[in-house]
Amino acid sequence: MRLPLVELHLHLEGTLEPELIFELAERNGVALPWGSLDELREQYAFSDLQTFLNLYYANLDVVRTRADFALLTTRYLERAAAGGVRHAEVFFDPQAHTSRGVELGEALGGVHDALQDGERTLGISSKLIVAFLRDRPAAEALDVLKQVLAGPVPVDGIGLDSAEVGYPPELFAEVFALGKANGLRLVAHAGEEGPPAYVWTALDLLGVERVDHGIRSLEDDALVQRLVDERMPLTVCPLSNVRLRVVETIADHPLPQMLELGLLVTVNSDDPAYFGGYIDDNMAALQEAFGLSAAQRALLARNGVEASFLDPAGKAQLF
Ligand code: ADE
Ligand code: ZN
Repeated sequence: MRLPLVELHLHLEGTLEPELIFELAERNGVALPWGSLDELREQYAFSDLQTFLNLYYANLDVVRTRADFALLTTRYLERAAAGGVRHAEVFFDPQAHTSRGVELGEALGGVHDALQDGERTLGISSKLIVAFLRDRPAAEALDVLKQVLAGPVPVDGIGLDSAEVGYPPELFAEVFALGKANGLRLVAHAGEEGPPAYVWTALDLLGVERVDHGIRSLEDDALVQRLVDERMPLTVCPLSNVRLRVVETIADHPLPQMLELGLLVTVNSDDPAYFGGYIDDNMAALQEAFGLSAAQRALLARNGVEASFLDPAGKAQLF
């Protein structure tokens, strides 16, 4: 039986492929700073999270209309389905669009429509997590969350992403308290470039139910013990970690060690258009580097299902 692939850490904006950038630029009459696909692709050598984020935000200039957001989402779902994904819990960054004049309802509405269509036509169930940009003011995040809650598009959870160091989770305690009070599921990026202290405060002061990345938790034995004891999922993204220089090569990735420690690790793709691959490519890279056993592959699949926000019936359907 083919193991179910569940994607729990994917930024929809990070699925904007170079070809789609050119396609949308053409249809929206946007002049790109790149003369060709190859010239654009030359920009994809990143030295850290910030150099990646600079390009990620700049490229979004071409995504403008409700139809553009729907197309971005549909293209992702088609690629995910081809790679065997059965369920996806996707991040969307409203502030990356509202800050450049896009209406929140147009952006979220386009994404929501396409997710609904994808469930019907491709058989991929999904959840939508709006993520707040931690390098923008918490007051803005709170305002956006209130608009989302008052709007017509239902969302399942909230997250925290963008530049990590210098922006600790506790800055967003009020935002997460409001999300929780409204029944939203809570996740946050922590311990990607930031220290283990950020993972502690994401747990204690935001009350997150999953930690996105979290690989720097390995530097703190007491934290590892707590994550194991609480069966706290970590949504790990191996190819992202290599491309953003969190680890040197895939062979240096601590994923096997994390499994050995008993951490609830899941494999995910983060920003596949930028980091060289989707979730199936991440699995293939791990397989090649480590020769994962059948038991390890099955454990990763089970972890993905367990860590999802599906209800028990939804989880049972995946196996
Ligand atoms: N936004 C998109 N990808 C991200 C990542 N890997 N870390 C933080 N913020 C992001
Ligand atoms: Zn991420």
